[in-house]
Amino acid sequence: MTRIPHETSGEPNPLLALSLDQLKRRTSMKWRTYPEDVLPLWVAEMDVPLAEPVVRAVTDALRRGDTGYPAGTAYAEALAAFAAKRWGWDGLAVERTAVVPDVMLGVVEMLKLVTGHGDPVVVNPPVYPPFYRFVAHLDRQVVEAPLGADGRIDLGVLEETFQRVAGGGRRAAYLLCSPHNPTGTVHTAEELSAVAALAERYGVRVVADEIHAPLVLGGAEFVPYLSVPGAECGLSLMSASKAWNLAGLKAALALAGPGAAADFGRLPEEVGHGPSHIGVIAHTAALLDGTAWLDALLTGLDENRRLLTGLLAEQLPAVRHRPGEATYLAWLDCRALGLGDDPAETFLHRGRVALTSGIPFGTGGAGHARLNLATSPELIREGVRRMAAALEED
Ligand SMILES: Cc1ncc(COP(=O)(O)O)c(C=O)c1O
Repeated sequence: MTRIPHETSGEPNPLLALSLDQLKRRTSMKWRTYPEDVLPLWVAEMDVPLAEPVVRAVTDALRRGDTGYPAGTAYAEALAAFAAKRWGWDGLAVERTAVVPDVMLGVVEMLKLVTGHGDPVVVNPPVYPPFYRFVAHLDRQVVEAPLGADGRIDLGVLEETFQRVAGGGRRAAYLLCSPHNPTGTVHTAEELSAVAALAERYGVRVVADEIHAPLVLGGAEFVPYLSVPGAECGLSLMSASKAWNLAGLKAALALAGPGAAADFGRLPEEVGHGPSHIGVIAHTAALLDGTAWLDALLTGLDENRRLLTGLLAEQLPAVRHRPGEATYLAWLDCRALGLGDDPAETFLHRGRVALTSGIPFGTGGAGHARLNLATSPELIREGVRRMAAALEED
C-alpha cells in the first residue's frame, strides 16, 4: 500500500484569495448569523473560493441543463480512487455504497438500520453537537464515553460503556467521529482495531463519521475504519463536503463493510431521493480533480495552525490549545481565563468575534470554545486580537 501524503502542489493557497469585503457578501450561515461588526470564526464553512475543477463541473452541468435526479456510481468510484491513492486503501467496494443527502442524514439512516427506538448510541464527548441532536431526534439514547485527557479515545471507558449498554444482548451503536471534531484527533490503526475488537466482543455496531478524512494535516495518517481488521460489520459516512467546502451542494456517501451488507441492503430506496444531482457532480469532481487544490489548502491550514499557536502564546497565554492533526478547527481550553462555562459568550459580546460555544459538545465542553482556522492569516490575527481585547478591563 502506497500512501501519498499531502505535498506542495504549486496551487495558490485558497485561504489567501478572498478579502473580508468579498466574504461579507456571502449569504450562508457563517456570514449571516451575527451582526455585521462580528468577525465569524465559528461554523465549519471555509473562507475560500471553490476548487476550479468543481466550478467547471458545476457550471458545465448548469449549461447542459443537467439538473435532474442523481444516477449511477460516479461519486463512489471517485471516492474509491481517491481512497486508494490518498490512504492506500483498495477495499472500498462500490457495490456497498449508497449516495445519501449529507453526512448527518446518512448517520441517521445507518443508525436506523442497526438500532431501534430507545436503543443506546455511544459517542465520545466533547464531540460535534449534532451527534446529540440527530440521535435524540431519531429517538435513540445518547450515551457518553468521554475522550481521555489526551484527547484520544479512552479504550477502557469505551469498553466499560459497551459492556453497560449492550449487556443482555441489547442493540447498541457507536457513533465514531474519525478524525475527531473538535479536537482534530486522528485515530491510529491500532486504536481503530481495538475499537473494532470491542465492538465485536460486545455486539455494538460502529457507524464512523469520516467527513474530515481528507483534512488530515502533514505528519498524521488517516486510516479508514472499514480498512482495519475486524471492522467488517462497520458502516461509514464519507463526503467531499468539508474538505472542499461543498456543504451547500448536498451529497455524501454511506459505505458498508462486508459483514454489514445485509443490513445495508435494507436501506430504503427513498433515501437516494435526497441528494442533489449537482451536489454529486461537485463532490465527484472534487475527489477526481481537486487534490492539488486540497494540498494547497492543507499547507495553508498548517500555517494557520502554527500562526494561531504563536498568537495565543503571545496574547492569550492562559488559553490551552493542543494543535489538532486534522480538520480546520481549533479546540481552545479557556478555563484558566475565569470566564465561566461559556467563554464564547464573552468573546462575542465584548470582543465581537464569534467562536462556537463548547457547551453543546457534551461532557468536557464547558469552559472551551472552538475556533475555525479556515480563513486568512489576517482574519486569524484579527480574531485573536478581538479575543484578547474582550478580556481587557473597561
Ligand atoms: C463530524 C461532522 N459530521 C458531519 C458534519 C456535517 O456534514 P453534512 O453537512 O454532510 O451533514 C460536520 C460538519 O461540520 C462534521 O464536523
